[in-house]
Parts: sequence; structure tokens; C-alpha cells
Amino acid sequence: MKKTTKLAALLLSAAMLVSMFTACGNSGSADNGNSQAAGQSSAAQAPAAGSELKFGTNAEFPPFEFVTANGVIGQYDGIDMAIAKQIAEENGKTAVIENMEFDSLLVALQNGQIDAVIAGMTVTDERKESVDFSTPYYTATQVMIVKEDSDIAKASDIADKKICVIQGYTGQTCMDEMGYPYEAFKKGTEAIMELVNGKCDVVVIDSATAAKYVSDNAGLKIVEDPTAFEGEEYAIAVQKGNTELLNMINTAIEKKLADGTISALAAQYAEAAAE
Ligand code: ARG
Repeated sequence: MKKTTKLAALLLSAAMLVSMFTACGNSGSADNGNSQAAGQSSAAQAPAAGSELKFGTNAEFPPFEFVTANGVIGQYDGIDMAIAKQIAEENGKTAVIENMEFDSLLVALQNGQIDAVIAGMTVTDERKESVDFSTPYYTATQVMIVKEDSDIAKASDIADKKICVIQGYTGQTCMDEMGYPYEAFKKGTEAIMELVNGKCDVVVIDSATAAKYVSDNAGLKIVEDPTAFEGEEYAIAVQKGNTELLNMINTAIEKKLADGTISALAAQYAEAAAE
């Protein structure tokens, strides 16, 4: 019960946080990459095919996206899936989910295999070079998951520990920037198993997903270090220059931020995650 409330509070405050911190720098400004001069529309306008809006995700990232028996979009559920469904429906379209490896999402977007990426994806300067991002809808931070009896208390304590990250996630970028060696896994659950089995000392991953793993696995705790890990903003990615789709997404997101829909979803999925 207490855990549920704490988790809900954590997710809620994260959803409402809009500040940017410094350190482990990745996300630049929340500029949408949409600042080209008016009238100079780029050639890369992806047609939002028929009445379907195809979102790519990697459904290994609870509470944002995960596979379940009865999800909001087929077998897919989570905060992002609910947002995707609402964006599509508000525009008279049906949301379709393509589940793939996290590392493949931006390539699939550039190839036109999907219309947009919704995957708890952090806005970074590097990613902004290849895609455009929507208005951010959630603020997270990297945290460290350790065993309950661990003496790790701050980021610098992990320099000579066995570190696990997830392939292609910003946690990996952070370790690269800090110059700490690590082992990268394909899935969060694989990294968590290494930790549970005592084969690594710490998993560096996004805060809300960490909260879910800690509530699912006994004997783990979260260590935060805001001086080392800056706030990261999640946004939806579209093909560079697809301003039509970007504007449609931004209108929907800005409305949902303003009317509290997104904080309500974050709270709802946090409650469910803690059960
Ligand atoms: N926020 C992190 C990043 O952008 C992790 C996102 C992982 N998302 C997922 N659906 N697996 O790199």
C-alpha cells in the first residue's frame, strides 16, 4: 500500500517536472526541430497512410509499454500505448503498433515502415539529427538499481563496480560519458536477472521503469543521484520534416498535458505496476 502510493507519487512528480538539470548531458533544448522557415517544407513528408497511424515501439519498458493479455491496443498496454491510441482516435485514425528492438526504431521511422515512434524515448541532440521530436510529455531521470544491502550511494561509487545497462538506452550513453565500463543487455529484465543473481552490482535505467522492476523483484532498491543524472524528456519522434504529423501530435499532446490526462495515466499505470 505504502509502496503503491510512493510509486504513484514518484511517477506523478516526474510527469509534472519540467526543469532541466545538468550533468550526464544528452538532451539539449526542447526545441522540436520544427523551426525551419515557413514555406520551406522538406521533401520527406511521410504520408499518414490511410486511416491507420502506425506507431513503432519496444514493448519492454513498463509502465510505458509492455505486452499483456488485454492491452489498450491489442496486446500492447502502458502509458505510451494509451497516449498513442488517443492521438490516433482524436484524428479519426486507428493506432497500429509495430513492436521491435529499441535500436531499430529510428531506422524503421526513417524508412517509412512506421509513422512515429512512441517508446519512452528521450530527446537527445544526437537523435535530433535524424528525426524530429514532439513536445515532451514526461520527464524522467536515470537511476541506479542495486541490491538492498549495497553500499552504493552515489554515481561515482559505481566506477569500479559491475554495471549493467540496456543496449541503446540513454543509460548506456550516460556510462559512456562518465567513462565507466559496463555490460549491455537487450532487455531490462535480463539486466535485472543479472543483478538478482549477483552477476552485476548495479543496473542504470530510467526512473519509472526502475520503480516497476524494484516492485516486481524482492531485495532491490533504487539509488538516485541528481547531481550525476540530469532530467530526460520523453517525446514522440516523426520523420524529419513531417510537420503535418508533428503538428497533429503536438496539438494532442499539449491538450493532454494541459487537461491532466497524461498525469492521470502516469498515476493509473503506477498503481497497476505496484500491484
Ligand atoms: N529513455 C531511454 C532512451 O530513450 C530508454 C527508452 C527505452 N524505451 C523502450 N521502449 N524500450 O534511451
